[in-house]
Amino acid sequence: MPKVKFVPQNLELEVPQGANLRRVLLRNKLPVYTRVTQFTNCRGHGLCGTCWVEVDPTSQLSERTFREKVKLAGRGEQVRLSCQTRVLGDGTVQATAGSLDLASDPTGAKSRRELFGLAWTAGTSLFLAQFGVVSLWFSWPRFKPGEFGSKFDIGPVDQLEVDLMYGDYRQTGQFWLIRLPEQLRNTATPDGVLALYITCTHLGCKFEWVPVNNRFECPCHGSKFQKDGTYISGPAPRGLDRFELAVTRDRDVVVDTGRLIRGQPRGVNNIGRQDT
Ligand code: FES
Ligand code: FES
Repeated sequence: MPKVKFVPQNLELEVPQGANLRRVLLRNKLPVYTRVTQFTNCRGHGLCGTCWVEVDPTSQLSERTFREKVKLAGRGEQVRLSCQTRVLGDGTVQATAGSLDLASDPTGAKSRRELFGLAWTAGTSLFLAQFGVVSLWFSWPRFKPGEFGSKFDIGPVDQLEVDLMYGDYRQTGQFWLIRLPEQLRNTATPDGVLALYITCTHLGCKFEWVPVNNRFECPCHGSKFQKDGTYISGPAPRGLDRFELAVTRDRDVVVDTGRLIRGQPRGVNNIGRQDT
């Protein structure tokens, strides 16, 4: 079985053939990184270039990977990235890890390792900061409750009269509300409730509910739609768009006017029923 002797610690370990040197170091609580790089390293993906180890001889180790060639350009063959190095042959490899960062420059100038570490840390921090700002931006409520674009709490679903078209939210929420009769419901309509966007899918006029004809009719070019938004006739290219909605555990209807569901094409039921 191959052996690795960690020189500064005077510790010799038997390792399985093919063992990854970084894992051997970490498992045995031996130093791999220095300073901040112990928190900001790339976790063994060969990207940060901070897990240097000096080895001797190199003949019992795996070939240098492409990433090592890039990260360690100009360094002798005995310097390796421990995360990219596997111990292959029998015999003992001497290894020195975790103490290489300033050793190569007696003047104390920053080594490549430390510069890699700093660049990696700066990049990671910048990414995390940007990610934080973007997440905050998207999670921040941009509409006040009751404003178009926000969620509308309609109240108890059981208080909505079945098969009655409610126009109360046309101004504030821009939708018609209906609780469909049992035979017209399906899983796309929680408790049969539907919130249809007030704008015609032809050229954007505001259509009206015409009770005597039991359907929506657009005054501009005459498009007609069923109460569930299914296209009937006229130049509109599809059924009516609707808003996402949910019935909460307390049985309240909440319509999200920030989420529009596009109407179905002509000839297809607007909420996916097969009986059209
Ligand atoms: S851990 Fe980043 S290169 Fe090895
Ligand atoms: S805008 Fe409604 S039919 Fe043209």
